[in-house]
Amino acid sequence: MRSIIDTVDLTTQEIDELIKTADDIAAHPEKYAEKCKGKKLATLFFEPSTRTRLSFEAAMLELGGSVIGFSSASSSSASKGESVADTAKVISCYADIIAMRHPEEGAPLVAAMNASVPVINAGDGGHKHPTQTLTDLLTIKREKGRLDNLVVGFCGDLKYGRTVHSLINALVRYEGIKFVLISPQELRLPSYVRYDTLDKENAVYEETSDLEGSLPKLDVLYMTRIQQERFADFDEYERLKDSYVLTVEKLKKAKEDMIIFHPLPRVNEISVKIDNDPRACYFKQVLNGKHMRMALILKLLTEKDYDKPLLGDDVIANVYRCENPRCITSSEQEIVHYCRKAHSDDNIYRCVYCDKKVK
Ligand code: CP
Repeated sequence: MRSIIDTVDLTTQEIDELIKTADDIAAHPEKYAEKCKGKKLATLFFEPSTRTRLSFEAAMLELGGSVIGFSSASSSSASKGESVADTAKVISCYADIIAMRHPEEGAPLVAAMNASVPVINAGDGGHKHPTQTLTDLLTIKREKGRLDNLVVGFCGDLKYGRTVHSLINALVRYEGIKFVLISPQELRLPSYVRYDTLDKENAVYEETSDLEGSLPKLDVLYMTRIQQERFADFDEYERLKDSYVLTVEKLKKAKEDMIIFHPLPRVNEISVKIDNDPRACYFKQVLNGKHMRMALILKLLTEKDYDKPLLGDDVIANVYRCENPRCITSSEQEIVHYCRKAHSDDNIYRCVYCDKKVK
């Protein structure tokens, strides 16, 4: 049994296989219509979602399985104080696989540590969103024909944008990827992505606040929403919210074959006038998301002999405490505080749940 908490829980070879399966599902859906007959998916969404929850549910239904779950914390016993660990143990009695979204970073990892069925991270706070990344990789492959030798620009909220963190984590493993990180100073990448992913892999990247100046060099532009729900200071959100708006006029500076991504929901980051531009791929991402989630559910429910432990033997328990108030460790009862050495520096330790520095 295997859970998917981060993109790196899959090798690049496995990602290639998932892309092939997703393509086959799109071409021959009838072949897959009963593959998960008799199986149940539980969608445990403690935070709002349109695409991820409904695409997981559509994916399971199109595989012939069925779906149970909830779409807000207030309609679950979390509102009475039930822990994530207990919720995972309980749902394991009802379902064969769990997709979980939670506002606290690391919550799906806690669920995976306590469930007896596979758990898929469907987005944990401002941390990770691996199934959006699989969707994005499938879309890049379909649109560009490759996952290597690309200049990829990420624009907007790179601090709280979990889709950005996960996609960087995935793309850094492919040859010849150059990253252009476009954001206001206040919303730059968290240090664990910059140091432990980009620097660790000797990735080529530049940081800038200039979208228009960056456009001509990009093969992929990944626009993101400024994540209002993550801001402690509403005035700061109001000041930053319209930092980047992609317009028809600005797009004239981009390559003819640059592809435009957005994980959605869009608030004001891309003019609707761009929606019919052949470079706009954000609604293709939505459809691809269903095919990719079908491929992933199928893989996890049919995989045999997977015995890699969830946490490696490099973790240490209860030596340093995580003080990140957005981490699941801040609310979960009697949680073990696990951390491990940062890849970039032997003197830095990071929380295994949220990746923030604990020492
Ligand atoms: N892309 C994405 O995660 O969208 P939802 O928040 O609607 O699931």
